[in-house]
Parts: sequence; structure tokens; C-alpha cells
Amino acid sequence: MLKTPFYDPNLSYEDNYDEGPFGSFADGKDLRKNQEPTYDFLGFKINTPFGIPAGPLLNSKFCKGAFEKGFDVIHYKTRRTADFPCNPFPNVLFVKTDGDLTLEKSKNPLKGSLNAPENSSEVSITNSFGNPSPDASVWQEDMKKALEAEGKGQILVGSIVGTIKEGFSPEDYYDDFALGAKLIKESGVKVIELNLSCPNVASEGVLCYSPDAVESICKKARVAVGPKAKLLIKLGYFSKDQQNLLENIVERVDPFVDGISVINTIPAPVVDEKGHQALPGEGRLKAGICGASIKWAGLDMVKRLNEIRKKGGYDFVIVGVGGVMTPDDYLEYREAGADLVQSATGAMWNPELAQDVKALGK
Ligand SMILES: Cc1cc2nc3c(=O)[nH]c(=O)nc-3n(C[C@H](O)[C@H](O)[C@H](O)COP(=O)(O)O)c2cc1C
Repeated sequence: MLKTPFYDPNLSYEDNYDEGPFGSFADGKDLRKNQEPTYDFLGFKINTPFGIPAGPLLNSKFCKGAFEKGFDVIHYKTRRTADFPCNPFPNVLFVKTDGDLTLEKSKNPLKGSLNAPENSSEVSITNSFGNPSPDASVWQEDMKKALEAEGKGQILVGSIVGTIKEGFSPEDYYDDFALGAKLIKESGVKVIELNLSCPNVASEGVLCYSPDAVESICKKARVAVGPKAKLLIKLGYFSKDQQNLLENIVERVDPFVDGISVINTIPAPVVDEKGHQALPGEGRLKAGICGASIKWAGLDMVKRLNEIRKKGGYDFVIVGVGGVMTPDDYLEYREAGADLVQSATGAMWNPELAQDVKALGK
């Protein structure tokens, strides 16, 4: 039997936002020990280099639950500069992948349903929200509340995505990322992540594979937040054929950013029992898949970024994300070179995961 997830996939995003978190994140029990933080992350002293990436922590109530349960570096869900609706329900379906979701396998439809597997370490899900956001004035106030829940040795990270508005040029779109980063900084958050795993206006496809766009956004964001704020970028998976592209991007962003988070999700078509599109609405046949089946991809990216870092003499930090379901997965990521490890799907169905990681004592 699975534990109660702090985000309930059977409810809409809005109901989760208003009524969540659920399960132990809502019990108010503070498991933090008043220890002396020993790990360094971006110049901050932290308790354990483990936390939750951008996504399942929808607002300050969720962030408070996560901090209390010992997730020490957590991201507030990606926000936009202006109000934006969520994709229609459902957003999270369990998918069957039969082991690793390789790039080859991700070309074929996966079956999605609300039926959970038996074991939390086997969970793989869709994540299809479309980056909803309230207006900046709302989330800025709420981020301040989330910061109040931060304990000793803990850090809140803000994540931002640009919005393509009618008549926008690519430059306008990139400026919107920079504005969002500035708005996060104004709310008092010291670490800001640019979510680059999103659509590109200048060409078909996802932004993080377009070096000109990525460089321009990072440069603009750095100017907007000033030299002291810590800037991260979030990338998707780069195949082996895209190795030169990855190296080029690292070289071009290095003057502007302090760290790189990898990975987001692996997109795949998701169908129901009858073989029909499982998630309602245009453009939603494909959904981002996360959880156990994408660990191989996150680990691979961490290893490759670590190699690039050594070879190029860079000093950016690496945030390892993807399929971290158990303390052993955490260790594997740390050994691969991750300075910080985060779990979204794993933490959702095991809200005690940070305690399990701390119990390793390393
Ligand atoms: C419910 C949910 C919502 C997510 N929303 C976001 C988001 O707003 N921004 C983002 O960068 N990634 C988002 N993600 C992706 C996660 O940050 C992470 O990159 C991905 O889920 C892989 O990690 P995992 O295998 O531990 O889930 C979301 C993931 C989940 C499960």
C-alpha cells in the first residue's frame, strides 16, 4: 500500500492548492533537529543536500510541510509573471513503463490511469499542468510566507518560466523570464531557477535545446537579479547525439549562472485502456513522465555534467533530479557528482523520504 501523497492526483490542481497538502505534510509535526548545518550549497550552509524540485509544492502551506519533514532545499512550484490557468484535470496519471523509460520506449504510447502501483519505489507518473500560476502579486506574498517556514540549514528556491503573450517577439519572451526572476528576488528568495524546459518562440521545440535563447535568457536574468543572487537553470535530457550542444550551452551560460538542475521529464504519448488520448485537450497526447522510470536519464545527465565541469574547470553546482525514490538513489546521485539531490515523485508518495535519507548518516 502506498502512503497518502501530499499532492492528491484524484483532486484538481485548484483543490490541491486550496486544501492541500495532505497526509503527514499536514500533521504539523516538526521533525527538524536543531543541528549545526555542515554542507555547503551555493555558499549557504545546509543540513542535508536533499530536497524537492519545482512542482509538487504548490504554495507556502506545502513548503511548510516539506521543511518540517526535513527536506532542506525545496523549490516553490514554477510561477509566471501573470495569472495563467492549469491544464484540465487529470494532470497526474500513473503510467506503466516496464522498467526504464528509454528514449526508444518513449516513442510508443504508455497506458495511464489513476490506479496506483503497490510499491512507492515503482511509481512513474505524468506531470501535465502547463505551468499554472496566480498573478505575481499573489505568489510574491505567499513566497514571503514560505520563507518564514524556512528553518536553520534550509533554503527556499523560486522557479520562474516566461509566458508567450500575443505579439511577443522572442526578446520579449526572454525579458519575461528576467522580470519573473526579479520578482522572485524582490520577495526575498535568494536562489532562483529559470525553468528552460518549456516551449521556444523562435523555433519549434523546447527552449533548453536552443543555445542562443538559453544564453540570452541567462544574461538578461543575471542583469535583472544582480551579481549576488544565485541563479540556476533547469534543463531537460540531452541524448548522446546532443553532447556537443550540451557542452556549448554550458560554456555559454557559465558566466551568468551558478548551477544546473537536471532533469525535468521525458515526454511520451499517454493513452487510456481503449488506446485513446488519456489527458483531455489539444496538445496533451504527449505528457512529461517522471518517477522511477527516468532515474537512468537524470543520473546520466549528472555524470555527463560532472565530466564537463571537470574538463572545463567550471565551478557550477549540479542539482540531480529524476527518479529518486529511495535513500540508495540519493547516494547514487551524490556519487555521480550531484551537489544537491531532489525528489518530486518519490517524495510525493513517501513524505518521510528526507528522514530516510538523513538516517543514512552521510
Ligand atoms: C506534480 C509535479 C509537478 C511538477 N511541476 C514542475 C514545475 O512547475 N516546474 C518544473 O521545473 N518541474 C516540474 N516538475 C518536474 C520535477 O521538478 C522533476 O524535474 C521531475 O518530476 C523529475 O523528478 P522525479 O522523477 O523525482 O519526479 C513537476 C513534477 C511533478 C511530479
